[in-house]
Amino acid sequence: MMTSFKDEVLSRRTFAIISHPDAGKTTLTEQLLLFGGAIRAAGTVKGKKTGKFATSDWMEIEKQRGISVTSSVMQFEYAGKRVNILDTPGHQDFSEDTYRTLMAVDSAVMIIDAAKGIEAQTIKLFKVCRMRGIPIFTFINKLDRQGKTPLELLAELEEVLGIESYPMNWPIGMGKEFLGIYDRYHHRIEQFRVEEDDRFLPLNENGELDGNYGIKENTLYDQAIEEIMLLDEAGNEFSEENIANGTLTPVFFGSALTNFGVQTFLETYLQFAPSPQPRKADVGEIEPTSEEFSGFVFKIQANMNPAHRDRIAFVRICSGKFERGMNVTLSRTGKQMKLSQSTQFLADDRSTVDAAVSGDIIGLYDTGTYQIGDTITSGKNLIHFEKLPQFTPELFVRVSAKNVMKQKSFHKGINQLVQEGAIQLYRTYRTEDYILGAVGQLQFEVFEHRMKNEYNSDVIMESIGSKIPRWIDEDQVDESLSSSRSLLVKDRYDKPLFLFENDFALRWFSDKHPEIKLSNPME
Ligand code: G4P
Repeated sequence: MMTSFKDEVLSRRTFAIISHPDAGKTTLTEQLLLFGGAIRAAGTVKGKKTGKFATSDWMEIEKQRGISVTSSVMQFEYAGKRVNILDTPGHQDFSEDTYRTLMAVDSAVMIIDAAKGIEAQTIKLFKVCRMRGIPIFTFINKLDRQGKTPLELLAELEEVLGIESYPMNWPIGMGKEFLGIYDRYHHRIEQFRVEEDDRFLPLNENGELDGNYGIKENTLYDQAIEEIMLLDEAGNEFSEENIANGTLTPVFFGSALTNFGVQTFLETYLQFAPSPQPRKADVGEIEPTSEEFSGFVFKIQANMNPAHRDRIAFVRICSGKFERGMNVTLSRTGKQMKLSQSTQFLADDRSTVDAAVSGDIIGLYDTGTYQIGDTITSGKNLIHFEKLPQFTPELFVRVSAKNVMKQKSFHKGINQLVQEGAIQLYRTYRTEDYILGAVGQLQFEVFEHRMKNEYNSDVIMESIGSKIPRWIDEDQVDESLSSSRSLLVKDRYDKPLFLFENDFALRWFSDKHPEIKLSNPME
């Protein structure tokens, strides 16, 4: 049966998982892919686990450190929905990449380790989702281990993150005494480590079990019933509207590793998660079901496959339908292009895509055409989607080629990696020294590694420490004001800025030169 374009769009669910490293993102992702039939065995998502899917040389760093620094896109179908999971790097130094990925999703799943509660990285990522007002679904993981009490965890959500919560289910016991979950939404109890046939027990209209079930003998059952009554009376009310506007998070308890509560989570999530949402552009909101194709580049990654040395621009489709060979215009330059080479992702097994609609992510082979934040459209009107947030670099190094004879590969590498958004580039006036800026130290390490492995360029990096960048007007450039405490440089668009050594240097400078307006467009 042919499904209409509109139905196709409405079936999309595009989300990212946000969490602190080790909370169980990989484990949960794998279980979801297993349900979707996208993979056949657990342990296939990350190179770290099997070594089989190491997609690029520089992932060696990731393997050595046991962290995930790459993002990929995974797609599967479940219960008539087409689900796109956008993976995000877990390490905090790569939060820039993660932030941009969060601009491309319609909802987020937040995983919390029941023993650790809400951790630093989760708070940061949560804030980005909050800012966008997207729905956030919470999965509290590792219930098979002793952790904080469920009431404590809910209190943390409200106190630390300031979000209201509605527990969709409630654990009965925990750790060694984990008996299962009381499913408030489906009016049933799901028993832990019980065969499928007997796993689900129906609740009566008073929300209790009728009949002779062993679980009723346990005092933990009574305790759970009591807590549920408390929640019914004093807890937040379930509100689809508040879930949709991101002020109320539905909470699910479970254990990804033992695959408990995951299917229930997936099914309920798919029911309440939004289909592709309208996107803000300079001409107003663009509807996902509008026929004209449009999308924006949220990520560029080079050399994903060492055998091809290719570069891929990840595009989130915001309206219309992508078809192979179609003609589009790049709004920034007005350049027309034929999109003949494209790819869609599943774990790391890339397959060619012929058609995709709003909500989907496509990868376009890129020969240096695209920049992060670019809009492409098939329409005559050159629309521009909202700018993606940029993050102010805090750490800086001076960089040069070790071998002066290899300037060409040095420049090529730097330019490509800068275009990818992997790192920020600045140049000093006159001497044209290269200075790199990053949010975290690991970005420099990956830069160095990739320069060597992908561009055959050894680099010398000399730390100049942390700096505070502030931009100035072009007509106020005065090289005599440049010093080691306020270094005058230009960014990659030739816009002038000072790198101040610290707050003190910044204040001193603005007191001394009140006529110079200092700004930070990234904030
Ligand atoms: P991440 O991607 O968020 O960093 O977390 P990941 O899924 O890799 O999980 C981190 C660790 O937590 C893994 O153990 C994983 O097996 C464990 N884990 C995930 N979910 C659960 C759960 O529901 N219960 C329990 N008890 N453990 C869970 P590891 O020993 O660090 O890694 P591995 O060597 O087993 O892969």
